[in-house]
Amino acid sequence: MPVQILAVSDAIDQRIHSSSLHDRMPDVDLALGCGDLPGRYLEFIVDAINRPLYYVLGNHADEIQRDRDGRPCGPLGCIDIGGKVVRDQRTGLILAGLPGSPKYNDSEPEQYSEREMAIKIAKMTPRLLWNQHRYGRALDVLVTHSPPRGLGDRDDEAHQGFQAIRSFLDRFKPAYHLHGHVHLYDRSKPPVLCYGETTIVNVYPYQALEISVPVIEISHRPAMSAPGRPPEPVTPSDGSFSPLRIEGGGRLTTQVAVFESTTEMASDRGRSVVRERVTTVSASR
Ligand SMILES: [Fe+2]
Repeated sequence: MPVQILAVSDAIDQRIHSSSLHDRMPDVDLALGCGDLPGRYLEFIVDAINRPLYYVLGNHADEIQRDRDGRPCGPLGCIDIGGKVVRDQRTGLILAGLPGSPKYNDSEPEQYSEREMAIKIAKMTPRLLWNQHRYGRALDVLVTHSPPRGLGDRDDEAHQGFQAIRSFLDRFKPAYHLHGHVHLYDRSKPPVLCYGETTIVNVYPYQALEISVPVIEISHRPAMSAPGRPPEPVTPSDGSFSPLRIEGGGRLTTQVAVFESTTEMASDRGRSVVRERVTTVSASR
């Protein structure tokens, strides 16, 4: 199932902060914020596209606002996925988020050591493993503010990537990793890297993406749910897979391999036959 995504990060772009946004991007399924953006900007995007916006905090935590009583609050209508794993019910896209940057001073709020970032990932791991069992993949898109170590980061203390995020990519192999924090002023440098099975995209200041969600069909029995959760609707199958297209950052050519497998899973409700459709995306520029 192709999913249209608008991703934003680090700077307000007038092409997005525009009354014509909905007319220019009428088919956006969801938006992603990779950090360091004013809450009002995220709220504007939600209003314009009338779709969910999932975000993580940047190291400046500009997303945090004050409500009428002066208490801190997140942008209205937006979903903070920092340290969480969520599944967008409408598209079936599985997202995980990690906020902040490495520690470099005492004045910015969202800074973490490698150990603290590793602990955040450890807390997300049970849900990621459950997704692997339930959906055949831990996640589709990792959303972070900082990049992984050595992959699109910089040498200075504030913009060095996290080794913990790189290890996350090694272990859970998301199809995409979107991040911000490293401002790409030199447009001759590509915003896209390929690392193993993951396409890493530096979102600054925005990227429009079309990605495909693997399709899982479950027959014979209702869908199993995580403990304590109601059964989730099964993602409809239309068998379509589309290449990733990137607006504002050149074009990425992808080769998509699709294969199917049939497995049986035992549950307390009997046996479910799961037909998984798995995509492997390799990219070249
Ligand atoms: Fe930042």
